[in-house]
Amino acid sequence: AKTEDFAIQAPAGVFVETVTSVTHYTDRLFRFRMTRPAEFRFRSGEFAMIGLMVGDKPVYRAYSIASPAWDEELEFFSIKVPDGPLTSHLQAIKPGDKVLMRKKPTGTLVLDALVPGRRLYMFSTGTGIAPFASLIRDPETYEKFEEVILTHTCRDVAELKYGFDLVDEIRNHEFLNEIVGDKLRHYATVTREDYPFKGRVTDLMVNGKFFADLGLPPLDPAIDRGMICGSTAMLKDTKEILEAAGLTEGANNKPAEFVIERAFVG
Ligand code: A2P
Repeated sequence: AKTEDFAIQAPAGVFVETVTSVTHYTDRLFRFRMTRPAEFRFRSGEFAMIGLMVGDKPVYRAYSIASPAWDEELEFFSIKVPDGPLTSHLQAIKPGDKVLMRKKPTGTLVLDALVPGRRLYMFSTGTGIAPFASLIRDPETYEKFEEVILTHTCRDVAELKYGFDLVDEIRNHEFLNEIVGDKLRHYATVTREDYPFKGRVTDLMVNGKFFADLGLPPLDPAIDRGMICGSTAMLKDTKEILEAAGLTEGANNKPAEFVIERAFVG
């Protein structure tokens, strides 16, 4: 009877999906997966508006879809904000619960928004890794690029686990592992705990440690491409570094050397 009540309350023109699994990583981060409507199409790297009924009102927030376009389910990686209008409720979801999703996905972190290149850098902090979780599991990424470097900076090591699990999943996946081969590299750093890779990726790029650790040359606008997803300050700092190296920002209607997702919040 509960589900029917919910269906009656749910706003028209919105998907109502069922949670299939929830994984809590830390007291600030969790992942959930839910059913995918058969008619819902998106490009890996895009985001959707995800919501819950809070009282009698739907509350939505932009969420990057963390699963690749071929996956039969949808995955999301979320922060938990104690008094967040949506996440304070979303963090309590359990398998079987219903989640709302608006019908149209959108976003700039798509392969089509980049001009062809050889190496793709994905820069993320915190839950900003979500769109890249989608893209690193999409075979098209490896058709377009010879090398993919996923960077993830978090406060502490526990917050990196989602990223390490993703890479393990690819390695253990029958067909993906074959497609990805040794093209994917994962560079994870923390800022508030001791760890061999310590510091913001931005600082490590500026002081050269990032390139030295990976054995890569400095950024080259002729072959290097970038995608950026993180806090507002991180977007700005990373954009400055890429622009100083001669890369220009692109968009869906004007592909260029790097793209930024500005819809992302925390
Ligand atoms: P820091 O600990 O130095 O603030 P948050 O959890 O607050 O969203 O932060 C996620 C990670 O992003 C943290 O490791 C944080 O480092 C880092 N960070 C914050 N601002 C920037 C920035 N401007 N450039 C790069 N990384 C940043």
